[in-house]
Amino acid sequence: MHINSLQVRLIAAACMLLGEAAHADEVLGTVSSPNHAISVAVERDDGGHIAYAVQRNGKPLIASSKLGFLLANAPQLDNGFTLAKKTTSEHDDTWEQPWGERRYVRNHYQELRLELIQKELDNRRLALVFRVFDDGVGFRYEFPDQPQLPDTRISDELTEFVVAPKATAWWQEAGEKAALEYSIRKTPLAEVGMANTPLTIRTDDGTHIAFHEAALVDYASMWLRKVDGQKLRAHLTPSAYGAPVERHGAFTTPWRTMQIADDAAGLYMSDLVLNLNEPNKLGDVSWVHPSKFVGVWWEMHLEKSTWGSGAKHGATTANTRRYIDFAARNGFRGVLVEGWNLGWDGNWSGSGSSFSFTQSYPDFDLPALSVYAQQKGVRLIGHHETGGNVARYEQQMDAGYQLYAKLGVDSIKSGYVTDGGEAIFANAGGGTHFGYTDSQEGVRHYLKAVTEAARYKLAIDTHEPVKDTGLRRTYPNWISREGARGMEYNAWGNPINSVDHEVNLVFTRMLSGPMDYTPGILSLEGVKGRPIHSTQAKQLASFVVIYSPIVMAADLIENYEKYPGPFKFIKDVPTDWADTRVLHGAMGEYATIARKDRHSDNWYVGSITDGTARTLPLALTFLDPGKRYVAEIYRDGDQADYRNSHRFDIVIEKQTVTDKTILQLKLAPGGGQAIRFTPQ
Ligand code: NOJ
Ligand code: CA
Repeated sequence: MHINSLQVRLIAAACMLLGEAAHADEVLGTVSSPNHAISVAVERDDGGHIAYAVQRNGKPLIASSKLGFLLANAPQLDNGFTLAKKTTSEHDDTWEQPWGERRYVRNHYQELRLELIQKELDNRRLALVFRVFDDGVGFRYEFPDQPQLPDTRISDELTEFVVAPKATAWWQEAGEKAALEYSIRKTPLAEVGMANTPLTIRTDDGTHIAFHEAALVDYASMWLRKVDGQKLRAHLTPSAYGAPVERHGAFTTPWRTMQIADDAAGLYMSDLVLNLNEPNKLGDVSWVHPSKFVGVWWEMHLEKSTWGSGAKHGATTANTRRYIDFAARNGFRGVLVEGWNLGWDGNWSGSGSSFSFTQSYPDFDLPALSVYAQQKGVRLIGHHETGGNVARYEQQMDAGYQLYAKLGVDSIKSGYVTDGGEAIFANAGGGTHFGYTDSQEGVRHYLKAVTEAARYKLAIDTHEPVKDTGLRRTYPNWISREGARGMEYNAWGNPINSVDHEVNLVFTRMLSGPMDYTPGILSLEGVKGRPIHSTQAKQLASFVVIYSPIVMAADLIENYEKYPGPFKFIKDVPTDWADTRVLHGAMGEYATIARKDRHSDNWYVGSITDGTARTLPLALTFLDPGKRYVAEIYRDGDQADYRNSHRFDIVIEKQTVTDKTILQLKLAPGGGQAIRFTPQ
């Protein structure tokens, strides 16, 4: 084969890129991002093992990292490979989101596709596909249909991520009791144990990487286990019985993703995870309604009322009418009512659940309330708490969806409250077994719930979900989910959410997609008056910072009536955006996000800080030049501090501004600021 000088240079660059593994005898392929800043090289060693490495701006970022699988039903799929075929291609298009953080998303990458063959093992084949974007790298494995391996039972995925520069990690444990609902930890990367994703790191030279996955379909969720030094390895969520992943015929794995940026703000601006998902499969989704709601909810978390029946039952017809009236008066589209259905008495969470998804408690008149709501321009939001009993839910899901669809309910919040590993799944031949909600069968269930709901034009907001991997692009009725410690922990949590919790979420959990965090607790207290770690202004800012297309203004009606000034921002703020810009961001410290309303020329800014007071200059360059805007500013008062009664100090003021104005955002300890910009 004749090798020209460009190829010689590329091979030399690839060898440098592979660092210590430069002794490898063969570079199978290289591929760079459209702007050339990020490059990936794939190598093969003497034994036919395959590895990849990533370089950014000429420096090693991911050192030689192994690829492959151990199979439960066949010899391992990680050695003896040779290259059968290599293709490269470029893709560049822009697609429109039905709802989202921004209306248009550019999908621009270079792709390298390597078809590998194990000649010594019946010529088994496996393809590797890398897509390299300006904002990171995604890669996946493709299993072809092949008679030598008709069924694939994956006992272990060997994918590694060996971080070259020393790094600090923000992460959350995986596989533990509280599933995705742990506080975010900050440790040296080398001290990570078993982590969930997104796992975000900052290298000592300032590069930020978020490790995650995209398009998790019919496969086990990926945890990341530190194996040694700064080497992370994929760890597939175990299955209750059998291999973590079992597939028949051809299939692709989810994309393994690394979003890469110079700073935390850049990570949040990345659309890589969405871009690696399939386009919308549902067609017209005008029946999915981004909107705000209120709910018969916080009162149960505060123990003022109960989900179960009795004198303190929250979901009564009278109480729900009160919420519907309030929603109608204040422009909220929805009213969530939890505890409406039979099954909440006794120990409902976990294995004891006995929920009905069609029968109401006698003091809750579902048909009459749905008519009453619609007469006032309001919709009930449905609620399906399963207690993690997937088997029981799947038996009733269709009837539950049918009932809501018939009554004009078009969004359902679902829930899977149970301990990690204790969800209940049906056995093929009858009976049940325990498992993780993020196991392959859990992954299948959540997507089934969403696709079945789509048949009834229902949007789903999943609590205790599997993590988000961007499937909202393909199934836009998966409108939101929880998947982290939410506001509820500020009611009864032990401990409650830390003062840096929301700022930590922005650059970890929020990189995966919308979160139903349920902000807006203007009363700033949980059970028995326990103060929460926030000022009032930070509660308002959370509506902008923590994105969710459906958002619950979570406080009690009486608290909104008590604070009409700050409540105005909650009434005004939209939930669907034409554009989003992250203006400031530092891991675990602060975040400022500007978003433009999808349906007007208004802009909104939210800024939040951890326990440290700070002043951030805010240049309004995102506003249209030549226009004057009224800025309605909701800021921490001069005395404001989350640690004492001054957490209620808020100043609401107006100012005329243009794109040339620079505001100073003065944030109190545990504070924030929210601003609405309206063109004059
Ligand atoms: C946990 C959910 O996160 C919360 O919002 C809900 O109120 C309870 N489960 C009961 O379903
Ligand atoms: Ca929860």
